This record gives sequence, structure tokens and C-alpha cells, in this order.
Amino acid sequence: MSIAIPISEHTAAQNNHHKGLTPLERISEALKAHPHIAISFSGAEDVLLIELAVQSKVPFSVFTLDTGRLHPQTYAFIETVRNHYHINIKCLHPDAQALGDFTSSKGMFSFYNDGHQQCCAIRKVAPLSQQLAGLDAWITGQRQDQSPTRSDVHLVQLDGNFKGRGDTLLKYNPLADLSSSDVWSYIRMLEVPFNPLHQMGFVSIGCEPCTRAVLPNQHEREGRWWWEEATQKECGLHK
Ligand code: ADX
Ligand code: SF4
Repeated sequence: MSIAIPISEHTAAQNNHHKGLTPLERISEALKAHPHIAISFSGAEDVLLIELAVQSKVPFSVFTLDTGRLHPQTYAFIETVRNHYHINIKCLHPDAQALGDFTSSKGMFSFYNDGHQQCCAIRKVAPLSQQLAGLDAWITGQRQDQSPTRSDVHLVQLDGNFKGRGDTLLKYNPLADLSSSDVWSYIRMLEVPFNPLHQMGFVSIGCEPCTRAVLPNQHEREGRWWWEEATQKECGLHK
């Protein structure tokens, strides 16, 4: 008689297994394991996920959350990536009614006064939630060194924030244990196209009004929502 292994134990075992794999092998295994899986691409250095997915030769899909507030360079870069890899990138948009109600009542820059949570909830979290409802797993470019709030990001983890198609939604973070320098070594070595904002002092890139360039040796997260505390710098995608 076989004994069912609890899903949390199975995920922990998967996580341990992925520690011994290269990023390419991690993505390849994740894509093969789930017919309903997608890469979440922000238009920044997580382009490496797409490069590796292409190299894996396993079919994959990609989506991006078009908040309506990305930098022009990021929109241009998303287009560059589509053309470079000959792939479709599914663009997810906020609900027009919810967004209209929000901006009509609070204006275009309310996040500077009362925090980014409400705007992010409408522009990012709700569209993501809808997308994930059709998936069994998603792949992100999160890394442990990106933020104090991400020090415990695993290579494979259960996503308790969102609901997927079935009982469990898995989240793969194949770059979790890589440093920023590792990621950039891959990008240069593999000649991966990158967002031109990275040449202008931007390290972590989100929406235009909430992202700024950082100085040498300043932590990348200080360029995001800089008017808020470091412990608040998650928008709900990963919290
Ligand atoms: S955020 O939550 O602070 O905005 P961050 O910019 O560090 O996230 O990106 C971490 C990962 O979250 C990305 O590699 C990507 O997988 C996902 N992500 C963030 N923003 C987006 C976006 N606009 N569209 C799709 N995925 C995103
Ligand atoms: Fe709104 Fe800024 Fe969040 Fe983008 S990052 S959704 S502009 S609060």
C-alpha cells in the first residue's frame, strides 16, 4: 500500500532536488512537469528566464503585467524580446472599471501619499490572480538577494497567496539562489537582450513613477518605492 506524501513535503523535496540543478535544468524540469505553467516576465533582468526557456527547447508561455505605468523603455524592451525570441507575450491589463474608479477618486499619484498597496492591487495583483487561476504553476525571477523581504525565497515553493487551477499552486524561482552578479554574467555570456534602463543606473525595474536609478553600491531595492520602509517593499505579487 502506498502512503500519500503531503504536498508540502513533496515540494520541500523538489526544492532540495532543484538545488543540485543548473538554472537551465530547473526551468526545463519545471516546464516539463506542468502543462499549465507560465513565466512571469517583468521586462527587466528576468529576461534570463526566457532565454533559458528557449534553450530548454520545451514549449512555454510568458505573460507580463502591463500596469499602464511602465517606462517607455520597458514597453520597447518587451517588444524587443517578442521579436528576438519570436514568442508571444501575453499582456495582462487592469480591470478598466476598477482602475477608473480608483484614479477618478484618488488621482494618478495617490501612492506617494498613502502607499502603493491599493494601486498595485488593481494594476498588478488582480490581473495576476486571474491569470494564475488557470495555472498549476508559475515561474518568477525572484532572488534572495533582491530584498530583505526575499531572503527566504525557495527554488520551488507552494504559493499560498493565490489559487491555481487545482488545490495547489506551485511557484518556481529558478534564479532564487543566484546573485545579481551571477544573473548579469549569464546575460552577458549568452548575449541576452536587456532593458536599456539598466545602462542608466536602474537595477530593479518596476513602474515608472515608483522606480528610480540607484547610486553605486546602493541596494537595488532602494530604487523601488523609495518613500516607503524597506519592509513594505512588496506589492502583493510575492507576499
Ligand atoms: S515586484 O513585486 O517588486 O514588482 P520584482 O520587480 O522584484 O517584483 O520582480 C520579481 C519577479 O516578479 C519578476 O522576475 C517577475 O517574475 C515577477 N514580476 C514583477 N513584476 C512583473 C510584471 N509587471 N509582470 C510580470 N511579472 C512580474
Ligand atoms: Fe501603481 Fe506604483 Fe504599484 Fe505600479 S508600482 S502598480 S504605479 S503603485
